[in-house]
Amino acid sequence: MLARALLILCASLAFACGPVATAPDAASSVAACASCHPDHARDHSRSRHANAANGALYRALRDASAVGTRSFCDSCHRPEVGTSDGLSCESCHQAIGNFGTSNARLRWDRSGAVTSARQESVATRAHGTRFHGFLPTADLCGTCHEVEGPGAFRETPFTEWQRSPAAQRGDTCVSCHGSPTPGRASPRPMAPAAVDPIAPSPDRARTDHRFVGPDDDTESAARLLVGSATVSVRREGAEAVVTVTSLVTGHALPTGVRAVRELWLEVTTVDRAGRSTIVSGALDGEQRLAQPPSGAPWIALHDELSPGLPTEATIVRVRALEPTQSVSARFAIAGETALVRARLRYRAQSQSLRLALGLEGPPPEPIDVASVETPW
Ligand code: HEC
Ligand code: HEC
Ligand code: HEC
Ligand code: HEC
Ligand code: HEC
Repeated sequence: MLARALLILCASLAFACGPVATAPDAASSVAACASCHPDHARDHSRSRHANAANGALYRALRDASAVGTRSFCDSCHRPEVGTSDGLSCESCHQAIGNFGTSNARLRWDRSGAVTSARQESVATRAHGTRFHGFLPTADLCGTCHEVEGPGAFRETPFTEWQRSPAAQRGDTCVSCHGSPTPGRASPRPMAPAAVDPIAPSPDRARTDHRFVGPDDDTESAARLLVGSATVSVRREGAEAVVTVTSLVTGHALPTGVRAVRELWLEVTTVDRAGRSTIVSGALDGEQRLAQPPSGAPWIALHDELSPGLPTEATIVRVRALEPTQSVSARFAIAGETALVRARLRYRAQSQSLRLALGLEGPPPEPIDVASVETPW
């Protein structure tokens, strides 16, 4: 009774109550959809979306946050009351707008048919469908993928995308992240969107619901990340000038939750006897990426934070590359050198952060986004 009265009050004051208060129980929804949409349900349940509230790093950081902040984390990572692990199908397929493109301010209509990107609506045994212009937009994704705080939890893919070459071409988040080639727009495979034995469905262009990201398994994450940048080495006397250039046209490199990521340049020299020395970007015995003494050359593209956990820290400097932007640094090369190697490496989780939170085991394997070898 009270819950119902609260819901009605919230419906009329939706902005003040926010999305968490208006979302009904959706715990079993994915299972309910799986019988007729087995591919979508399988891809979704393997995605980070379905598991957004059960990552070890996420849970540790949420637990380390002030009690009052935790419901803010939940508003994106577990938006449906009663869903313990993450997003459900309805998190996107009943969203009909927002109160602003950031901080999870989604607006849902729970009463109606599921939303579809196709003009033509279909009546099925389980539900109706209706075209909704919000579903295929970057605004849907951006409402969660644009975070204004607290602390260093600033994420800005949506505003980066708005001023990107991809947006000018008409490519949205789904063009690149719902395609069969993660991070690159490409033609969609055709297959039935539903498997209902009573009413066979025609072929439709299909959206990959894995939405692969850097927190997926190493092989999938590599498909997204490898080739997102180039690295080149130019000799100037006894110095190597190394340049990193972003090839990403949809937003900055890296984007999203840069406060927990690492993207850095490793430079190695190999002498004539085959001995190699890491000149910049080495990991220490505990697998931490150590910043060199101030003034020494290095290239790191994740955010530089003031000390503290990302929930408390402030961003000292955003070092990410805008689309097609480059950054260079000069490294002194020893006389005996025969070969210079440079590679841009990505780690989904900073080991310093993992250790500060008491997480055990090694961090995710680094992925080589781009690399080059030059005889010296
Ligand atoms: C009894 C089978 C059945 C169940 C259960 C079911 N659907 Fe469907 N759904 C269909 C059929 C049939 C279509 C129409 C497919 C077509 O014509 O392309 C459809 C279409 C859709 C579409 C629109 C596809 C388009 O045209 O763009 C969406 C979105 C959708 N379903 C989501 C869901 C969600 C979310 C659930 C769970 C809450 C669900 N469905 C449960 C049978 C089902
Ligand atoms: C032109 C294709 C393209 C478009 C459009 C695009 N992305 Fe990406 N996205 C990529 C590529 C390539 C990567 C991997 C390189 C990187 O991390 O920037 C990526 C990575 C990401 C990541 C992983 C975080 C990271 O950088 O490590 C997130 C999150 C993301 N994109 C969200 C979005 C959102 C949200 C939108 C829409 C506002 C969007 N993307 C639009 C291509 C695209
Ligand atoms: C993160 C948001 C999101 C979630 C979660 C999500 N979908 Fe979708 N879905 C979309 C978008 C966006 C499209 C339409 C893309 C387009 O056509 O531009 C879509 C399209 C579809 C379609 C039409 C056919 C196709 O492949 O394009 C079906 C059916 C569907 N979704 C079912 C589901 C089911 C079932 C679930 C849960 C298991 C689910 N979706 C979860 C965003 C989502
Ligand atoms: C209700 C909020 C919400 C919506 C809407 C949403 N996302 Fe997400 N998305 C998240 C959260 C939270 C994560 C982080 C999951 C985790 O903990 O790894 C995520 C992760 C991702 C990742 C993987 C990044 C990684 O951590 O590996 C991609 C890619 C992505 N989303 C793309 C999209 C696209 C494209 C859309 C729009 C169709 C979209 N998202 C809509 C909340 C949302
Ligand atoms: C407005 C939405 C939103 C809020 C609020 C939010 N996040 Fe996220 N979070 C995201 C999205 C979207 C991603 C995926 C971005 C990416 O992969 O770059 C993400 C990714 C993460 C990741 C990396 C993926 C993983 O699971 O390890 C961590 C850790 C994280 N968030 C922790 C938190 C914590 C702790 C809070 C609360 C203090 C919080 N987030 C609040 C949207 C949000």
